[in-house]
Amino acid sequence: MRPIIEIEHLSKRYGSGTPALNDVSLSIDEGEILALLGPNGAGKTTLISIVCGLVVPSGGTVRVGGHDIRKDWRAARKLIGLVPQEVALEPFEPVIDCVRFTRGLYGEPPDDAYIEQLLRSLALWDKRDAKTRELSGGMKRRVLIAKALSHRPKVLFLDEPTAGVDVTLRREMWQVVRELRAQGVTIILTTHYLEEAEDMADRIGVINRGEILLVKPKDELMGEFGKKHLTISLHQPLAALPPELAGRGLVLSPDGRELGYDYDSRAERTGIAHLLAEMAGLGLSVRDVSTKQSSLEEIFISLVEEETA
Ligand SMILES: Nc1ncnc2c1ncn2[C@@H]1O[C@H](COP(=O)(O)OP(=O)(O)O)[C@@H](O)[C@H]1O
Ligand SMILES: [Mg+2]
Repeated sequence: MRPIIEIEHLSKRYGSGTPALNDVSLSIDEGEILALLGPNGAGKTTLISIVCGLVVPSGGTVRVGGHDIRKDWRAARKLIGLVPQEVALEPFEPVIDCVRFTRGLYGEPPDDAYIEQLLRSLALWDKRDAKTRELSGGMKRRVLIAKALSHRPKVLFLDEPTAGVDVTLRREMWQVVRELRAQGVTIILTTHYLEEAEDMADRIGVINRGEILLVKPKDELMGEFGKKHLTISLHQPLAALPPELAGRGLVLSPDGRELGYDYDSRAERTGIAHLLAEMAGLGLSVRDVSTKQSSLEEIFISLVEEETA
């Protein structure tokens, strides 16, 4: 598939500070949802702002739909919609006017049929005449999306779309994003909520200190790291691992009270039932059992830690 966004050796330094972006290369395919995951200050907004033409890079190139964002910015900009991190709406303006106005800013002729379709798809049609200040938080975010889509861009950037919103609203946003993808819009979202990336993205890019640490299909990333860990607490501490239980990767904790066992949660046979039966046969009395899934969060933390180490 042809990439719709090609970022090559992009760097950005604000003033004389440390680089906000350092030699970032990234290619984004048409129709995918890419989540850019990274802690505060990682460079996510800077990256998006450069692609959207709001920040001038210190080096490197960006092409959108084959158009260089600097030499051919007009064509590049037409393909892009941006939902910025901050909610900023004219409080007394009716919803429909504010979407029409944004379309005008892009130099597009009026197209009320499209605006209607857009507002309907975002469940805002009934609210078209409401002043934006009368809307709920979720509706306001959807108005921002409608504005960003008013000129029919092929790529939508969502910068921390759910920062500071409650769980219900977050899920509502995810639903909207999935529907947009179904309509063929390429979506790049930044987040520091790992759950969000885990839930929505086709691919995940991890960014830290201005560098892309990895970009991988989510399934691959989860598969690689998606191990489960089982902890078996014992009534009586063991001095050593019984020889009968050797060779299966069991680890006894230093105090002898816990057995740890890593397994692939997607495997058909995890070996847990067998293990517990065998332990019972050896007279080991189990006090408690708990499992833990290695989440994207741990993957992320381990990546960022490696980087810092
Ligand atoms: N306008 C600016 N002027 C100076 N430094 C900035 C500016 N915008 C961002 N930075 C710095 O660049 C780095 C990356 O910031 P940003 O791109 O906003 O990260 P993120 O969106 O991942 O939180 C940070 O160290 C931030 O302080
Ligand atoms: Mg940001």
